[in-house]
Amino acid sequence: MAIQWYPGHMNKAKKAIIDRLKSTDVVIEMLDARLPGSSANPLLENLSQHKHKLKILNKQDLADETRTHLWLDFYNSQPNTQAIALDASERAPAQKLIKACRALAPNRSGLDKPLRVLICGIPNVGKSTLINTLLGKKSAKTGNEPGITKAEQRLILADDFWLYDTPGMLWPKIIVQEGGYNLAASGAVGRNALDEEEVALEWLNYVRIYYPQLLVERFRLEVSSQQLDTWQDTDWLDAIAQKRGALLSGGRIDYQKAAEIILTDFRSGAVGRITMETPEQWVVWLKKAKEKEIQLKEERLKKQQMKK
Ligand code: G4P
Repeated sequence: MAIQWYPGHMNKAKKAIIDRLKSTDVVIEMLDARLPGSSANPLLENLSQHKHKLKILNKQDLADETRTHLWLDFYNSQPNTQAIALDASERAPAQKLIKACRALAPNRSGLDKPLRVLICGIPNVGKSTLINTLLGKKSAKTGNEPGITKAEQRLILADDFWLYDTPGMLWPKIIVQEGGYNLAASGAVGRNALDEEEVALEWLNYVRIYYPQLLVERFRLEVSSQQLDTWQDTDWLDAIAQKRGALLSGGRIDYQKAAEIILTDFRSGAVGRITMETPEQWVVWLKKAKEKEIQLKEERLKKQQMKK
């Protein structure tokens, strides 16, 4: 089963963002540094094609540092794009953010030409936390100003630097299956949209290959080197369940409980610093997903023609 999630309020945000983009110089997209590709919004990418872009890899404290560098290089090599990594412990994120945006649109400065920046991000990526830190003791200017909707916030970070926060988020169909699982594992997807056991198994299937030592250490498992090579996701799940006492009567394994333990530990960073995708992997997954989409479209068209 692929992860599908499309809360109605996200759809509503699309129009607001299209309107705001008309007078925006730089679009900031906040990404989860543990899953930058999966936490990006493909629709936002389409809508902001000709804009300057700043990618913030947030929650870098939870991500694999080496991979964060790979992702920064990946984004920094794209046209009109800059990328920075951040986390909530950063004491003065405004300086980093303003500097990167100014570098993208150097022609916008001064009171008559303020730099107008839109900040977007999927739920749970840490946008509110960052905005609160940016604001510090200052209060947000909201609504009741010409050109600013009630729900929208305009934060004046410097006299000529305006940051617009449009609440809610557009989220079209998740076409990359691996991305859906990564989003679910990270906690971005509503709980009722996912099967935790399936998500935990997908997560284990990746982590057992790239971070087996972290699994061994976190769950204090005794795994021989032969088992390290041969264990599948289900073997890891069984071993973790046994170790953590996720058992039902008669000693049967409580898979739901084991899955919850694993996902909670990943989300909090207790397993260690893990990044669930490299740029290279993401490009391959995306290509495969797009090919599949085209194939499905063609099949649908054929069926329609047959009916006619
Ligand atoms: P959102 O507005 O994008 O939906 O996200 P929000 O700021 O509410 O952050 C979602 C969760 O992520 C919060 O945890 C927040 O503390 C955490 N978070 C934000 N930035 C960072 C970061 O850079 N590093 C880490 N490790 N965590 C971050 P929560 O458990 O939902 O709430 P709480 O623990 O803050 O009460």
